[in-house]
Amino acid sequence: MTARANGFPLPRGRAALVPSVLAADFTCLKSSLAPVKRAADWVQVDVMDGRFVPNISFGPGIVPAVAKASGLPIDAHLMVSEPGRFIDAFAAAGSGLITVHAEARNAGACLRKIKALGLRAGLAVRPRTSLARVVPFLAGLDLILIMTVEPGFGGQAFMPEMMPKVAKARSLISRSGRRIWLQVDGGINAATALTAAQAGADSFVIGSALFSSGKPAAFLRGLRAEL
Ligand code: DX5
Repeated sequence: MTARANGFPLPRGRAALVPSVLAADFTCLKSSLAPVKRAADWVQVDVMDGRFVPNISFGPGIVPAVAKASGLPIDAHLMVSEPGRFIDAFAAAGSGLITVHAEARNAGACLRKIKALGLRAGLAVRPRTSLARVVPFLAGLDLILIMTVEPGFGGQAFMPEMMPKVAKARSLISRSGRRIWLQVDGGINAATALTAAQAGADSFVIGSALFSSGKPAAFLRGLRAEL
């Protein structure tokens, strides 16, 4: 299998570092994202609808702007109650991977639709949602996202109590024999990324810690060396 499918990287035993746009400098996306081009693997747009989470962020219009500014593939994390209404738009906007939440409406049908569009499909679970909600969909997944904060805002504290869930997801993936990313998102910095990697994560969404570092490329290179 190629290292990329539909332009999106596949797990190949190397950590995937994923800047979260939510924490980028919106006064100039280009200067904020251009430095991560050579050091990151893809970029995540954190989409919020004000219903599934108590915050509103952005729509599909941001995808081409982020893709142009970063030159990287885009992962659209839909923190929305009815993701089925937005999959076509995020696909048409250029997302290479779309993640829906297991707690959202018609998650299974959404995953099937994402795959039918030739995209990579991710399934996310809130901290309080059991991993059992992921098992029925495992065969069709390209990514499992274990939230390490309650979704809705950047800059929150990492929840170390999510590590047993990460470890359980890693053994689920290993037993499945499938190439599925195990992503963590929320409160990820150099220390918590190592904690999550030890539990079995191999994709790290990083917002505040990355962009507040002032040197995002150096931050990512240093983290990759550690991982
Ligand atoms: C949660 C958001 C954050 C963001 C990363 O809803 O999606 O997880 O991506 O936030 P930091 O890295 O700032 O905790």
